[in-house]
Amino acid sequence: MVKHRESRPGQKAAGGLGAKPRRDMPGKPPAKPAHASRPAKPSRDHSERTAEPRVAASAAAAPERPLIVRNGERPPERVPVILESLGAGDFHLIDSGNGLKLEQYGPYRIVRPEAQALWPPTLASHVWDNAEAIFTGDTDEDGMGRWRFPREALGETWPLQLLGVDFLGRFTAFRHVGVFPEQIVHWAWMKEQVETAKRPLKVLNLFGYTGVASLVAAAAGAEVTHVDASKKAIGWARENQALGRMEKLPIRWICEDAMKFILREERRGNKYDIILTDPPKFGRGPNGEVWHLFEHLPLMLDICREILSPKALGLVLTAYSIRASFYSIHELMRETMRGAGGVVESGELVIREAGLDGRTPGRALSTSLFSRWVPK
Ligand SMILES: C[S@@+](CC[C@H](N)C(=O)[O-])C[C@H]1O[C@@H](n2cnc3c(N)ncnc32)[C@H](O)[C@@H]1O
Repeated sequence: MVKHRESRPGQKAAGGLGAKPRRDMPGKPPAKPAHASRPAKPSRDHSERTAEPRVAASAAAAPERPLIVRNGERPPERVPVILESLGAGDFHLIDSGNGLKLEQYGPYRIVRPEAQALWPPTLASHVWDNAEAIFTGDTDEDGMGRWRFPREALGETWPLQLLGVDFLGRFTAFRHVGVFPEQIVHWAWMKEQVETAKRPLKVLNLFGYTGVASLVAAAAGAEVTHVDASKKAIGWARENQALGRMEKLPIRWICEDAMKFILREERRGNKYDIILTDPPKFGRGPNGEVWHLFEHLPLMLDICREILSPKALGLVLTAYSIRASFYSIHELMRETMRGAGGVVESGELVIREAGLDGRTPGRALSTSLFSRWVPK
């Protein structure tokens, strides 16, 4: 029997991992890789009710090792935590609605699809229509499309700055602009760790893309190892380094399969003080190594733990595979109930493991999101 228990944390909102549409990357895989083993379906894809049996981590293409059996207490938890990135440097989110978002990236206003923006926009349509760049095309989250420049034709790149680091904004074929600004909050945290550590820190940036996080860490004084499977992405990262005249900073740019790299670091006994890992849902290493988030993440984290230094300051995982956020339905509910008074409360519905005896609370399993309006 499932016991119903309501938890009302003090925070203003409840929820787990922020959910963002998946992003494309250089070397984006085909929708259905021919020889990849099929991953288990993410349980939060609520449209998908039939769960496939989970594929064991050992199905991965890369050489692997078994998971370490870990005893000891689970670390105490602090949930829910909503990490909120406001604008920083040249970026801020201007408005959202009708399945779109309007963002400011330096001199440009940009309109891109945003499946979670179910509510109407706040600003008048002429503001949206005045954007410098509009991404049109496949409404599928990972879909190809093209950029339209209603006012004047723009070049492929333009200079930007975040947290004191220069880099290039970039109109890519898959709607992305060369940076994921929601991660500013992680990067600001990391910068502070590096600046206040009173010792040189080693930072590992896995799936590092255009290297903004690596540059922030290095500029703050860290020794950085940046790993990405895409030559093109590493090239963009190096361009960003050159733009900010940061060539002398200690960054190792490594074009390799992330899993292979960390397995090697583990064998060699190399350690890091901070690890950032931002794996895509699906990816490929330079030699065709297959990465599937739901198959390989447990092993990846297991290895990351082993290569954390004894005085490590953090292991930061970002996952975008979850396709909805409670904020989507929450804001929609609030828009819908305007003028009704009361309160809208939103979050996730979870089932707590209860053990064989039905009385031993274990881990929380997220099943769905909820939003409810109540009169008081
Ligand atoms: C989610 S992005 C990282 C974004 C970056 N951390 C940021 O916030 O700007 C994913 C990156 O993973 C890389 N990638 C995909 N599969 C990989 C693999 N097997 N090993 C290493 N990198 C991979 C892609 O080339 C891409 O640059």
